Amino acid sequence: MKEVSVLAPASVANVVCGFDCLGFALAAPFDEMNLRLINEKTVRIINQDDHNLPTEPEKNVAGVALSAILDEIGDEIGFEVKITKHIKPGSGLGSSSASAVGAVVAANKLLSERFSRMELAEFALKGEFLASQGRHADNVAPCLYGGFTLVRSVFPLDIVEIEFPKLFVTVIHPQIEIKTSEARKILPAQVPLKSAIHAWANVGALIAALSKGDYGLIARSLEDLIVEPVRKSLIPHFDEVKNASLKANALGGGISGSGPSIFMLSETLETADAVKQAMCEVYENTKIEFNTYVSEINSEGVKILDK
Ligand code: HSE
Repeated sequence: MKEVSVLAPASVANVVCGFDCLGFALAAPFDEMNLRLINEKTVRIINQDDHNLPTEPEKNVAGVALSAILDEIGDEIGFEVKITKHIKPGSGLGSSSASAVGAVVAANKLLSERFSRMELAEFALKGEFLASQGRHADNVAPCLYGGFTLVRSVFPLDIVEIEFPKLFVTVIHPQIEIKTSEARKILPAQVPLKSAIHAWANVGALIAALSKGDYGLIARSLEDLIVEPVRKSLIPHFDEVKNASLKANALGGGISGSGPSIFMLSETLETADAVKQAMCEVYENTKIEFNTYVSEINSEGVKILDK
C-alpha cells in the first residue's frame, strides 16, 4: 500500500471537571488527510485549505508527529501528506490533535501497522506538544480511540476507554482564536485542597454516571471550580450561552478544551437542537460570527478510508 486517506475527528477535552484527563470524540467536524510514502527521509506537507499552517515539518503538528515516526524506524523513507483541515486551529475542538492523530494513523497503515495504538498516541503527543507546550492527551486519546476516554497518566501513557450512554453534543464555535498555549499560561499553578476534592469527586461521579447511563448524575457532575472561572473571561458571552443552554434542558457543559468553543451534552437530539437554537440566539445579538455543530459522540474515532 503506497497511499492512505483518513478522517480525523474533532474532540472535546476536559469535559468540564476533567482538566487534561477527560475527552470525547465528535462526529463533526473532521480533518481529511492523505499520506503517501516517498523515497526520501523527509516529511513533505501540502496544505489544501485556507488556514496557512506552516509547511516546515518542525513547525507543523502533523510534521512533528510524522518525523517522530521516521526517527523511530530509521529507514530511508519519508511521507508526503496532504491536509484539508475542517477543524479550525485555535477552536478548542482538538484541531492539532486531529492533525497529529490522522497523520500517525495513516503512516502506521502505510507501515503495515507496525505500531500499537499506545505507541501511536506517543508519536501524536509529540506533535500536540508543539501546539500546546504541554503534555496532555485529552484530545489525542478520544481522536485515536473514539468515544469517551480518561487519560490516567501521561508518564507513562495510560488511556482508559469509558462506557457511555446515548448522548448528543451541541457545540458553538465563536470565530475568535484562542491559542491553547496562551490559555494554559493564565491557569493557577496551585489549587486549594477544597477545589481539588470537588474536582476529583466530580470526575469519579461523571465516569460512574456515564457507565451507568445515569443522566441526572452526569448533569450534577459537570461542574468545575478551577479552570472555567479563569478561562471563561476569554470567551465572550460564556455565561449567557451556558445559562440559555441549561434553560433549554441541556444536561450541562462548558468550555471545550481551551476554548473558545462551548459544548453542551443532551439526552436527546431534540434537546440538542433546542440547545443549538438557544446558543444561536445569544450570539445572533453580537457582532461575532459563529458556527454550530450538533453531533452524537463518535465511538469510532479516526477512520481509515477504503480506497
Ligand atoms: N486540556 C487542554 C487544555 C486541552 O485545556 O489546555 C487543550 O485543547
